[in-house]
Amino acid sequence: MGAVSGHQRVLSGMRSTGKLHLGHYHGVLKNWVELQHEYECYFFIADWHALTTHYEDPSIIEDSVFQMAVDWLAAGVNPGSASIFVQSRVPEHAELHLLLSMITPLGWLERVPTYKDQQEKLKEKDLATYGFLGYPLLQSADILIYQASMVPVGEDQVSHVELTREVARRFNHLYGREPGYEEKAESAIKKMGRKNAKLYKSLQKRYQEQGDTEALETGRALIESQHNLSVGDKERLFGFIEGGGRIILPEPRPLLTASSKVPGLDGQKMSKSYNNTIGLREDPASVEKKIKTMPTDPARVRLSDPGDPEKCPVWQFHLLYSSEDLKSWVQESCKSASIGCLVCKQKIVDTVIAEQKPIRERAEVYLEDPKMVRSILAEGSEKARDIARDTMEEVRQAMGLTYR
Ligand code: TRP
Ligand code: SF4
Repeated sequence: MGAVSGHQRVLSGMRSTGKLHLGHYHGVLKNWVELQHEYECYFFIADWHALTTHYEDPSIIEDSVFQMAVDWLAAGVNPGSASIFVQSRVPEHAELHLLLSMITPLGWLERVPTYKDQQEKLKEKDLATYGFLGYPLLQSADILIYQASMVPVGEDQVSHVELTREVARRFNHLYGREPGYEEKAESAIKKMGRKNAKLYKSLQKRYQEQGDTEALETGRALIESQHNLSVGDKERLFGFIEGGGRIILPEPRPLLTASSKVPGLDGQKMSKSYNNTIGLREDPASVEKKIKTMPTDPARVRLSDPGDPEKCPVWQFHLLYSSEDLKSWVQESCKSASIGCLVCKQKIVDTVIAEQKPIRERAEVYLEDPKMVRSILAEGSEKARDIARDTMEEVRQAMGLTYR
């Protein structure tokens, strides 16, 4: 239980709509690889989310799921440290999505900025669908079903995590008040012993009357350290200290990736929709060709024309990849016209190909053994499902759906 035992669960997902590129690697995957050593991590392939925009041509989704799993594994996501799974293999996400839809005001979804933005951006698609409006709520279900405390996402997804927090708050408010809640909370406080009970009460007062968040933190740590309290009692006390009911679905927070923005071949951000990407496992000859045909400072027509790296997309790659020494060499040689652009580009070609080499090699192993990939996904899905089932038990019970 995320909020209760205090261990931090991390959850994130990616839509399966095509091949991954270096932007995904630097922006997302490298971060996941680090997180997997620190936290209990769940990473999933959001095939249902892919369908919200690709419902007319689902063929791309199926192949993408497999390729995406290979990309993740090749990039260093380790199934021994993190659970990797496919969203639709854990149908509980859909059940929670449905139940959350009962309590989510339409206006909350209509106001999520990505709703209108994406409709504008993807004009060629009809996104005036029920499923697309529900996109961020399905994402909320993805997150809340694991009681995840942290969700590593990019800037563009923060509004979805915010919505998730609001939905969780509303859920807990509506269903966290079991009959006799206050009495049960009071008796749980007594179980902590006189001294701790007194401390809890004073921390609760400090938080509720003065908004003292340090008192709240201390209070939470106090609850956590009580080994003789049941999970239910702890949940009650977590809610009670804040003045609310039992917390059934803890509020997650976004973990903003301080990621380096990866430049595309044309100097814009690398993105499939700009057609300016280098694939994560792209063949070296093709990588070389793409980089060598990149535009440079338009003022450098001849070798003898001095250039300005600030006006050149290749320089963006040096910023991402090159050492300080190499960077000053590029600055000087470009401005003094003492090197040709191909020499400058060759450095990037070499670096990118060297970066991709181990990734391509690891991918080879999985591509030769697709069964292994499938079994990693199956195993991850089962592990995820165990947690999802437990959460759903509590959710059904809270919503009056346990017919025993
Ligand atoms: N919407 C996310 C994206 O486009 C993908 C996603 C789906 C996700 N469910 C999630 C991310 C849950 C984090 C948590 O990138
Ligand atoms: Fe760009 Fe390098 Fe050519 Fe200068 S030398 S214009 S930085 S490619």
